Amino acid sequence: MTVTEALKKRRAIKEYDPEFVIPKEDIVQLFAKTLLSPSSFNLQHWRFAAVVDPAVKARLCEAAWGQRHISEASLVVVLAGNLDAAESAAEYWRHAPERVQEKLVPQIGRFYANNDRLKRDEAIRSASLAAMSLMLVATEMGYQTCPMIGFDFEKASEIVALPDGWIPVMMITVGRGTREPHPRAGQLRVEDVAFWNSFAGEPVK
Ligand SMILES: Cc1cc2nc3c(=O)[nH]c(=O)nc-3n(C[C@H](O)[C@H](O)[C@H](O)COP(=O)(O)O)c2cc1C
Repeated sequence: MTVTEALKKRRAIKEYDPEFVIPKEDIVQLFAKTLLSPSSFNLQHWRFAAVVDPAVKARLCEAAWGQRHISEASLVVVLAGNLDAAESAAEYWRHAPERVQEKLVPQIGRFYANNDRLKRDEAIRSASLAAMSLMLVATEMGYQTCPMIGFDFEKASEIVALPDGWIPVMMITVGRGTREPHPRAGQLRVEDVAFWNSFAGEPVK
């Protein structure tokens, strides 16, 4: 499957076969490929709770005001972002040449120092890039997905025991869909969203 095919095929699927179990090896593969996503300074802010336990899914479903796809999907990924990723920069650069590490690690520390907003933006940005990768890889593996933010973030954080310093970003249901998606609701055109050289420029078309 090409990237374009995966982009066309991926849709937000909300009905799943509740009996279907995703093999554990597929779940490991799904994450292993997702980890190839880019992140600022390679800080890899993404963290994942891979929820397969029906009792935990039921509690998450309740925290999402009964959105049934959470209970029915084989896997619910609760994606979190690490606010303190910059503090572990040395670990994420450990295979780089020593002179690169010596220069970059302190530079990363300075870049994020005393900037809580940037830390939060970065956590959400990186986790969101991972989310898209995860959905495309799942599509390639023959699964269907749905990204979700319609849930009580505090309750969901408690259910998955989110550690201090990590923030919830979204959930993604993964499973075997049982219905074809509706036609796309109304996509914008290229010229509505892209402009040459600046946002004051001519629309791209
Ligand atoms: C960040 C985000 C949050 C979303 N939250 C929910 C949600 O809580 N429940 C749901 O059923 N769908 C949710 N969706 C799915 C969107 O409704 C869906 O992606 C959108 O309508 C476009 O349809 P498509 O993904 O099939 O192209 C969410 C999508 C995104 C990207």
